[in-house]
Amino acid sequence: MALRMAVDNALVGRVLSAPVVLQDGGRLYDAGTRLHERDIEFLRAFGITAVDVTDEPGGPKRNDRSTVPRPKDGHPSGGAADRPRERPKAAASEKAAYSALMESGLRRIALGASPPLGEWRAMIKAWLAEDADPLFWVGLIRHEPRPEIHPHRYLADHAVRVGRLSLHIARLLGMSEAEQTQAALAGLLADAGMWRLEGRLLHHPGLYSAEERRAMQRHAELGYERLKGRMGISAEAAFSALLHHERMDGSGYPLALHGERIPRLVRIVSVADALTAGACARPHRPAKSWWAIVSEVLGSQAFAAEVREALLATLRRLPAGARVRLVDGRVATIQESSAEQPLLWTLVVGEKTLPMSALKDVVAVEV
Ligand SMILES: [Fe+2]
Repeated sequence: MALRMAVDNALVGRVLSAPVVLQDGGRLYDAGTRLHERDIEFLRAFGITAVDVTDEPGGPKRNDRSTVPRPKDGHPSGGAADRPRERPKAAASEKAAYSALMESGLRRIALGASPPLGEWRAMIKAWLAEDADPLFWVGLIRHEPRPEIHPHRYLADHAVRVGRLSLHIARLLGMSEAEQTQAALAGLLADAGMWRLEGRLLHHPGLYSAEERRAMQRHAELGYERLKGRMGISAEAAFSALLHHERMDGSGYPLALHGERIPRLVRIVSVADALTAGACARPHRPAKSWWAIVSEVLGSQAFAAEVREALLATLRRLPAGARVRLVDGRVATIQESSAEQPLLWTLVVGEKTLPMSALKDVVAVEV
């Protein structure tokens, strides 16, 4: 007999009697799936409030599928390179699932437990199969001016973006798939120590005092403590937690390392982290526009030249006519760009050429 049950922890261990289907038709779970704690988080993340289950809490386990959501065709990402891009709704569902997976995994690390590395690797494998467009990264830098999202959800979203962007940069640098996987893992784990900070620091509304800033900066060491020597986590990934705020000019923390002493993978993650974080508002600081954060990071000698150059080189491929969105909601078109300075664009709206100062108002680039 089938029962209709609300989505809460009482569902853990229950077996689905009917598939769970998303609004856009994508199938999240098949009938016969036994629900684990993370599945409950997925269901919540997708806005599903009730499911049909068998009346046998200890019913037989019929499949051994990954909890990375599978669209109808069964591919973990639904986004292989030879298929058209995801429809926006499916992409939003996927993003929520990735965030939920990261949130539960990063919480576990903070508590001293092992992260669900198998599921993370399945997620990274899906990323390896997509995102071949060299300009993919421009869409990952998303201007989010409102900081009201819960800090833990922000940190989970941030981890996903840094992981994906780190993988993409590794690919642009011609690194192997194994190295791209390590770059993604290093990006996912970079801010693992943030989950060990006091809540008052994460919710902090205004500027940090010097003492609070030092407490915040401890997240680098706190993350490293949890990750070093842990089975399945490479030394590079653990070092990314410790060193992702180090800078090529020695201006970073916690060790003020210079240039070549910073591992290559960490240099990649540092750029991914800075680009991703700067575009999102936090309670203690406003968001920078897409153009402001990209030109700041890619123009700074504090970040690795090879990484900056690889990203700038892709911008030289932006076609004339590419559209950008301005902070006031207007859509402008790039009429001309400079090969030497790939972020110097001439923007037009209709017949009108905008002043150079409008560049700092660019909050999104469509590719
Ligand atoms: Fe950080």
